[in-house]
Amino acid sequence: ANHDALPDLLLDWYDVHAREMPWRVGPEARKMGVRPDPYRVWMSEIMLQQTTVATVRDYFLRFVTLWPTVGDLAAAEDADVMGEWAGLGYYARARNLLKCARVVVTEHGGAFPADHAELLKLPGIGPYTAAAVSSIAFDLPYTVLDGNVERVMARLYDIHTPLPAAKPALMDKAEALTPPARPGDYAQAVMDLGATICSPKSPACGICPWRDPCAARVAGTQNGLPKKTPK
Ligand code: ADE
Repeated sequence: ANHDALPDLLLDWYDVHAREMPWRVGPEARKMGVRPDPYRVWMSEIMLQQTTVATVRDYFLRFVTLWPTVGDLAAAEDADVMGEWAGLGYYARARNLLKCARVVVTEHGGAFPADHAELLKLPGIGPYTAAAVSSIAFDLPYTVLDGNVERVMARLYDIHTPLPAAKPALMDKAEALTPPARPGDYAQAVMDLGATICSPKSPACGICPWRDPCAARVAGTQNGLPKKTPK
């Protein structure tokens, strides 16, 4: 398979099949080069860390309605934010959310820095979130590695090393595939592929844009990947 063609195969699929989410930009605006609001991308990524897309949706909409900008959130009462977070769990995320909003206002003039290293310094922003905001909001060529992306990479390259030991190899593969053009759409496209077609139990290989180059599909090993070290 010609691996140079992989990103475009996936981006063409994403242009048609991207899931609609309130923190994303619709297909028409995306074609015009419109990027999503970094504040909304950041908020959604923090909420999505231990919570499903379906649950996050309503919380996200409530938060951005109450606090439409990072400045609004920074000025909120702690108790109001914690109250709205109730039910999402992992409350350190909410405390860091507020802390981060306040640092963005006091140290960055109320705008998220378009710089991976600066993002990493912010409260509650680790490698995953810094890569997600860099790529999705600022279209910088950073690679997001979540559970979906790990599964897609393990199958595409038929990697049998169990998780978590396989993580560095999966990251290498994911980074090597990240295209210089449209890295933000590409990052979300891999996540959508993993969440819809390349699902854990019965992947829909027949309609996958990567069915031809997928090494696991050729070997018939996709249902058993990624392997996990037994606990
Ligand atoms: N999970 C975490 N971030 C996501 C995103 N931007 N799109 C889809 N699923 C996600």
